[in-house]
Amino acid sequence: MDIILGMMRDPYRHISKKCKRLGSDLFETHFMMQKAICMKGANATALFYQNSRFCRRNAMPEPVLATLFGKGGVQGMDDKPHQHRKQLFMSFMDEHSLAQLTRLFEKQWLQWAEQADDQQEYVLYGVLQEVIARAACQWAGVTLHEASAQRHIRDLVLMYDQDGARGLGHFRARRARTRAEKWMAGVIEDYRQQPPQPFPLSAIAHHRDQDHQLLSLDVAAVEALNLLRPIVAVSVYILDCAHALHGQAQLKPQLLEDDQLLDSFIQEVRRFYPFFPVLLARVRDTFVWKEITFEKDMRVILDVYGTNHDKALWQNPDQFRADRFVNWTPNPYTCIPQGGGNPHLGHRCPGEAITLNLMKAAVRLLCQRLEYQVPEQDLDLDWRRLPALPKDKMRITGVRLNS
Ligand code: HEM
Repeated sequence: MDIILGMMRDPYRHISKKCKRLGSDLFETHFMMQKAICMKGANATALFYQNSRFCRRNAMPEPVLATLFGKGGVQGMDDKPHQHRKQLFMSFMDEHSLAQLTRLFEKQWLQWAEQADDQQEYVLYGVLQEVIARAACQWAGVTLHEASAQRHIRDLVLMYDQDGARGLGHFRARRARTRAEKWMAGVIEDYRQQPPQPFPLSAIAHHRDQDHQLLSLDVAAVEALNLLRPIVAVSVYILDCAHALHGQAQLKPQLLEDDQLLDSFIQEVRRFYPFFPVLLARVRDTFVWKEITFEKDMRVILDVYGTNHDKALWQNPDQFRADRFVNWTPNPYTCIPQGGGNPHLGHRCPGEAITLNLMKAAVRLLCQRLEYQVPEQDLDLDWRRLPALPKDKMRITGVRLNS
């Protein structure tokens, strides 16, 4: 049976369940009616990130390109051209730039909290999307005009929040991408009329590929969205932080006092909560690993959630333990919520520093500055949703700002 059918029912746990049934972390299957291999665990991750074994060209199915990733972006590139393009993203991760984005995020959130009505109920997920999107646009050098701001923010969200939906949701994500690419193409064109400015969007507009050519307008727009869209998606992890903190009042002062514990808490949120279920690549040339033949061009599916919850790597993996990472020795192949290996050489996410910084700032605000109540609601995770979220997306009331 095609693995996609099982993954539609249970996107995060289907592969691990099948591994358990088969007694193996590696099995052959079909994906979209073609032969494929599923695998999970640290060894499988180390293999997956060997550039000599796998490539990313044509690995993603069309529905993912039409919504989440766009066409012609860094995700589908290989070898030297990939590393050159990747350097563009890595260049935005210097300390000064990261601190600036974090400051803008804190400022936006405090501004929202200051004017929030303590009698009103808010959906925390929606609030975070808007706060982060505004900060991200300002940081990247994109002007949000009030008349169209809500529309643009909604499109940035739809591309990652509805890409895995079926039916109407998926169709809305496709239309959001078409509109957002048009919006970004306009911004890129504007920057190309001016000398380079100290903003990421200007850097993308003026970036030249290995052949010294400017990116086509379409591809530049895709890369601009590859920066803005995932920053807005950090709202999911911040929502998860709030979810993990709920009912853990004793944890809040500890996190504020102990920076190591705060770092560990954030890592545990990224390990524990589901976000990307799997990653895809294609086999370059036929080889055999653990008695399985990886045939040229076959798709390989790495179980991200399963690796982050692998019993061979984590004690009681389905338990949330804030201090799990306090004495952890970093390993690029075990905790892989944003991919594994080396981000400069492979496809590992270039935005981990942004993600961690925003999460850290958000937890401090949630523990110290923001007072709020969480009314009765369904906080269970919706496991069929991509990304999985608490069912009621955390409704909060009584919002007040502590000085
Ligand atoms: C790639 C997750 C935040 C930009 C990836 C990958 C994952 C991931 C799983 C694929 C790794 C692979 O294919 O091997 C996440 C999660 C985030 C997040 C869960 C938090 C919400 C960010 C941020 C940025 C970003 C803040 C902004 C720079 C990218 C880009 C790629 C990528 C451009 C493609 C890299 C490549 O193909 O070389 N991310 N990411 N992500 N991420 Fe993130």
